[in-house]
Amino acid sequence: MSELIYSPGLEGVVAGETSISTIADGLRYRGYSIEDLADHATFEETAYLLLYGELPTASERDSFARRLADFAPVDPTLLDIIAKLPLSTPMMDVMRTGCSLLAHWDPETADNSHDANLRKAERLLAQLPVIMAARERLRQGESPIHPDATRSLASNLLWMLRGTEPSERSIKAMDVSLILYAEHEFNASTFTARVICSTLSDLHSSITGAIGALKGALHGGANERVMEVLDEVGSPDKAEAWVRDALARKVRIMGFGHRVYKTGDPRARYLKSLCQQLASETGNKPMEQMAEVIETIVTGEKGLPPNLDWPSARLYHYMELPVDLYTPLFVLSRVVGWSAHVIEQLDNNRLIRPRSRYVGAEARSWKPVAQRG
Ligand code: ACO
Repeated sequence: MSELIYSPGLEGVVAGETSISTIADGLRYRGYSIEDLADHATFEETAYLLLYGELPTASERDSFARRLADFAPVDPTLLDIIAKLPLSTPMMDVMRTGCSLLAHWDPETADNSHDANLRKAERLLAQLPVIMAARERLRQGESPIHPDATRSLASNLLWMLRGTEPSERSIKAMDVSLILYAEHEFNASTFTARVICSTLSDLHSSITGAIGALKGALHGGANERVMEVLDEVGSPDKAEAWVRDALARKVRIMGFGHRVYKTGDPRARYLKSLCQQLASETGNKPMEQMAEVIETIVTGEKGLPPNLDWPSARLYHYMELPVDLYTPLFVLSRVVGWSAHVIEQLDNNRLIRPRSRYVGAEARSWKPVAQRG
């Protein structure tokens, strides 16, 4: 056993091969840089690229959009169950339950073939936004709004949440955030999905488990915690004192640091300028100033650059979205990456079953109950 290598948190361990994305030279999805995709592609084109391996032709793009529109309506019985969950249920738990419930209505849940998994991935991509928006409307005491087949996913999402025409600016901001969140090789939630499907379990189980992993504060849950930090700090003039005190007390500052990006997260760099733009258009410049002070000190003093969750929380705040939708929005996008990984894992599957290093008691003999204690 001693010859086996152990790395806490599996840091630096290569746990599998993938052709879906790489972080070796910036972040690339199937070879395309995220900057190129965020500048030029739509989220739907990016989703197609991740699932099918190539950017769609015009006709592939149109038929993909048509399929997503056809798949979007969610069975009313499922929405009724979602409506009956206790009001106090956090939205990430609603997403996890929603994904699990979708398995019961999917005609191909148990079919683990490559093509069936692509179809199921498309249905999840189309239906999870409908579940999130419906739950949010119900929580606000409003009726759910039906998905509009003529809209893009980003536009539809904002439409179903609010029932008012979203601005072009907010559609673009949402679309870019979904592109940047879509995929990130062997992060904790993706690895969770791969472990689950490696047992030959199904796509819905894998994605449900991945949502559970994403929820944690060290992973996707950080984007909601970032907003708590910014609310707590309150204004640019309080930022320096707050951050110096937090660092002195060894507080973990959400939105900073990354297991693999030690010199900076390219997604955060990209989103920062969009954030600044949206902040000045929406009267939120003071929050950008506050964020800049915190970022300069955390990066300078601790050598911890911001990760994607740092700007994305502000972006969603400027779009006036409720804080507990931030991580669920991450789910709506990352479902694409998770699904692509499940499909890739199953195309060349080997059960993922590592070893542990035993640190417990030496071998000992059975003791009858009267001799214990
Ligand atoms: N604030 C303050 N200190 C930090 C932070 C932070 N955000 N991140 C790491 N550190 C410190 C740790 O306290 C530790 O210090 P020590 O050696 O003095 O004890 C050291 O840096 C190493 O920390 P680890 O947790 O071992 O490093 P790891 O590589 O596991 O960190 C992680 C990665 C978990 C993301 C971490 O940076 C963190 O907790 N960040 C905040 C949560 C966050 O923003 N998560 C989002 C990740 S990106 C995403 O999911 C899109």
